[in-house]
Amino acid sequence: MKEIKIGFVTVSDRASRGEYEDLGGPAMQEWIGKALTSEWTPVARVIEDEQGLIEKTLKELADEENCDLILTTGGTGPAKRDVTPEATAAVCDKILDGFAEQMRAVSLQYVPTAILSRQIAGTRGASLIINLPGKPSAISECLEAVFPAVPYCIDLIE
Ligand code: MTE
Repeated sequence: MKEIKIGFVTVSDRASRGEYEDLGGPAMQEWIGKALTSEWTPVARVIEDEQGLIEKTLKELADEENCDLILTTGGTGPAKRDVTPEATAAVCDKILDGFAEQMRAVSLQYVPTAILSRQIAGTRGASLIINLPGKPSAISECLEAVFPAVPYCIDLIE
C-alpha cells in the first residue's frame, strides 16, 4: 500500500467543548498504527454534532487535505443530535452499503445494541469515508470487520 493520508474526525458535542476527553480519535489512530506497516499521515479534527460542520469537515479532508481514508467516530445512533450518517451521505458520490452491513453484522456478535448504529460508508472523489460508533471498543470491532477491503478500495478510487 502506498503512503497514505488519513483523516480522523471525532464527532462529539462534549469532546469538542473540552467537557469530555476525546477517546475515539486516539483509539482510531492507535488501531491504524497497529494495522498499517507503511507510512501514513494523520489529520485529526474534533467537532460538534452539527450536520453542516460535519459536511464541511469531510469536504475539507477529502478535497483540500486529499485524505485517502477518512474515519469518523460518534454521532451514528438514534439520538436527536446524532447526524453523522446524514452528513456523510450528503457529501458522498457513492455509498458502499457492504461496509455498513458488515460492520453491523460483526458488531451484533459483540453487543445487541449494535443495531442502533446507523453508520454508513462511501466515497467522495478519491477518499473513502467510514463512520464508526463512538465507543473505543466499537471502533476496533468495526475496523477489524472491514479493514481487509480498505486498501483495495482506496486503490480503485484513486
Ligand atoms: N458497535 C459495536 N461494535 N460495539 C458497541 O459497543 N455500541 C452501539 C452501536 N454500535 C456498539 C456498536 C450503541 S450502544 C450505539 S447507541 C450506537 O453504536 C451508536 O453509537 P454512537 O452514537 O456513539 O455513534
